[in-house]
Amino acid sequence: MGEQLQKVAARILVVDDDANVQRVLTFALRQEGYEVVHARDGAEALKLWAADRPSLLLLDATVPKMDGYQVATRIRSEEGRAGHVPIIMLGAETDIEHKIRGLRAGADDYLVKPFHSAELLARIRSLLARFAPRELQGARASTGRVLAFYGAKGGVGATSLAINTAIALHRGAGRSVILVDANLQFGDHRVFLDLGKDRKGVVDAATEAQIDTEALRQVIVRHDSGIALLLAPPAPETAELVTPEAMGQVLRQLEPMFEYIVVDCDRRMDEMTLQIFDVADTVFLVLTADLLSLKNVSLVLEMGRNLDYHRDKIQLVLNRSTSITGINVKQAEAVLKQRIHYEIANDHKVASTALNNGAPFAMEKSESLLVKSLYDFARAIDRGGAVASPQTPQPVAAGAGAQAAVKTG
Ligand SMILES: Nc1ncnc2c1ncn2[C@@H]1O[C@H](COP(=O)(O)OP(=O)(O)OP(=O)(O)O)[C@@H](O)[C@H]1O
Ligand SMILES: [Mg+2]
Repeated sequence: MGEQLQKVAARILVVDDDANVQRVLTFALRQEGYEVVHARDGAEALKLWAADRPSLLLLDATVPKMDGYQVATRIRSEEGRAGHVPIIMLGAETDIEHKIRGLRAGADDYLVKPFHSAELLARIRSLLARFAPRELQGARASTGRVLAFYGAKGGVGATSLAINTAIALHRGAGRSVILVDANLQFGDHRVFLDLGKDRKGVVDAATEAQIDTEALRQVIVRHDSGIALLLAPPAPETAELVTPEAMGQVLRQLEPMFEYIVVDCDRRMDEMTLQIFDVADTVFLVLTADLLSLKNVSLVLEMGRNLDYHRDKIQLVLNRSTSITGINVKQAEAVLKQRIHYEIANDHKVASTALNNGAPFAMEKSESLLVKSLYDFARAIDRGGAVASPQTPQPVAAGAGAQAAVKTG
């Protein structure tokens, strides 16, 4: 589990001359386990940066003495190539010019005040994951990675991929993994994994007065594959007992307990799904090669841009890539104007036998391209492919498996 990762908290330098803003930010950051240092103006910020080498800067654009743009420019010109400190600029202006100016000055991200603390924390986590050494990513932030699986349309295989990726991360990469069924009304995991209705689940934890580690330990179920499970309620009418906020809290509580938190999202694009997307380090948008999928993928990508998600946050996973649909990968990429990051091969027999037996295919020893491409996918995630930096495009994970299959299929 994650205990060994909770060594050093990331230190965040908050640069803002407004005492109120400082207080609110400090509170939110300390709650997440970060250390906080303050500067009231640009000159003090530079001094502290040089003396203290914080892990990340929250930099108001309009601080006195030397404004945020100048501070960012100075830091970028003085830090060595190896020492990139992530900077999130905070500004009151919504227009695009200010954002561009901030990014040009060297900020990695620009957030318009007022913002939701959950959004700020998600961005901090994502930047620390990209730039800071692992042991400096903060007490909670350094630990589990939250991977959300979302189907571009019904039946594309989001649940199959979430379950089997969770198992492959555990069996193939030796990681501690929890799988969360966030299809609260009609969650399928009890069927896919051959578990009865009597097992506890997320509702039992989310309705506790305090959602803490102990409450979660009481309801986590162990699966034969070795992964942990947080199940959806067996009856749809209890789903609404879990609010989006409670789900966010559950996921954050799980972060220090597991190396991976794999979430199978509901198909509805609602507050619950958005809350999960916000907390997630990576959203795997699962699609098949058909027009309806492509249309929905475009909509979700556009939503991600509107929400200012980092461009690598949503990654495309083409499932059943070797089935013949009349649309190939290149055509799909051309339509989407976006690379398809991963491919998982088609194998109806293996997938449906697994489902009917309640034994996920990732548990089988199999020569199937489906199993092979799935393990390749999990390996790429574990190598860090899922938080790809824009400068270093990641290889298509399905690699040998699905690519070979594309040619022969
Ligand atoms: N790579 C694959 N090759 C062949 N069949 C697959 C593959 N992936 C999934 N399937 C099959 O597709 C069907 C739908 O899968 P699944 O339930 O995982 O999709 P979903 O996106 O979660 O659907 P829902 O919208 O109902 O939640 C299942 O019968 C499953 O066995
Ligand atoms: Mg599903």
